[in-house]
Amino acid sequence: MPVFDDSAFDDHERVLFCRDAATGLRAVIAIHSTALGPAAGGCRLWRYASEQDAIHDVLRLSQGMSYKNAMAGLAFGGGKAVILKGEDFDGSPALFERFGEFVDSLGGRYITAEDVGMSVETMEIVARRTRFVTGLSKKEGHAGGDPSPKTAWGIFKGIEAAVQHKLDRASVAGLTVAVQGVGNVGFNLCRYLAEAGAKIVVADIDERRTAAARDELGATVVGLDEILFQEVDVLAPCALGAILNERSIPKLRTRIVAGAANNQLETAADGQRLADAGILYAPDYVINAGGIINVAAEYFGTADDAEVMAQIEAIGPRLTRIFEEADRTGRPTNVIADEQAREIIAAARKAG
Ligand code: NAI
Repeated sequence: MPVFDDSAFDDHERVLFCRDAATGLRAVIAIHSTALGPAAGGCRLWRYASEQDAIHDVLRLSQGMSYKNAMAGLAFGGGKAVILKGEDFDGSPALFERFGEFVDSLGGRYITAEDVGMSVETMEIVARRTRFVTGLSKKEGHAGGDPSPKTAWGIFKGIEAAVQHKLDRASVAGLTVAVQGVGNVGFNLCRYLAEAGAKIVVADIDERRTAAARDELGATVVGLDEILFQEVDVLAPCALGAILNERSIPKLRTRIVAGAANNQLETAADGQRLADAGILYAPDYVINAGGIINVAAEYFGTADDAEVMAQIEAIGPRLTRIFEEADRTGRPTNVIADEQAREIIAAARKAG
């Protein structure tokens, strides 16, 4: 099972293979870096086509978390876990408890949280066996709970920064924003946009969600195949990854791409394609950090809701600095963000 040769291997500090015959647990935990603090990142429960795919995913995602946490200014390194959903997977509490024991065995080097396939309920089961877990139910007066509204607030502030930079407009009032996916983040984003006077166009595979956006927020509903190619000021992908690629980019009719979805660029070269097309791209892991900022506040117990909101608002100026650097150097924003993240991690490594 090659790990060192995997294209996503980036001198990760530690990779732990977790197997428990009694519960059927098969999981991989990857710690990319602890230079800035404990490696934080969610646990994904997924049916992978192969073990190699699972390893590739956890290596790639844990590096992404290092970059995201560094750029959010958090005292968190980057890590990630995947639980492989095989044919015999039964989702028993014992399996999640066993996973919690593996997390615990790392002594706090890795802090787990909710990701695709997991829920607050499953995280509460994991938490029976380890305290190195976040994303639990919200306790009165403290940060925590569902991070989606916080993520949406960060996206909204990021859109405002992009609009100021690209369109020289102080507000989204009167602008049109296409939102792909009106789930937990997308719907909350639509609320903020509607309140600020933007026109909204939405699409979602779940018709109840688009109906709610139309009825409650006055959104225009378009087809799944049309949403990316609307003539709009801002496109906010809030559903799937890899939607920006050599096939879709030539057909985009937006000035800005700024949304929540992780890994929006199919390949790093797509950042250059967007820049060449004159489209300003807000790097996904910078703009969608609101949730992890909330999680950090929950874990360290240091910030209340008001402070969390203030930290999230710093996403706007952070993006502006990336946009300005991209203008100055003629390089795409995704490359600038990666570079800044690597510099922050390298400086911490040197210092510590
Ligand atoms: P969600 O599952 O609540 O919402 C996603 C929505 O997209 C659903 O309503 C789904 O029906 C819709 N969808 C799926 N495929 C679609 C398609 N082909 N076209 C249009 N709509 C489609 O997920 P959530 O939490 O809102 O997250 C959205 C994105 O943001 C995901 O990529 C997630 O990884 C990312 N993200 C979420 C964070 C959070 O705090 N929830 C934090 C950072 C990133």
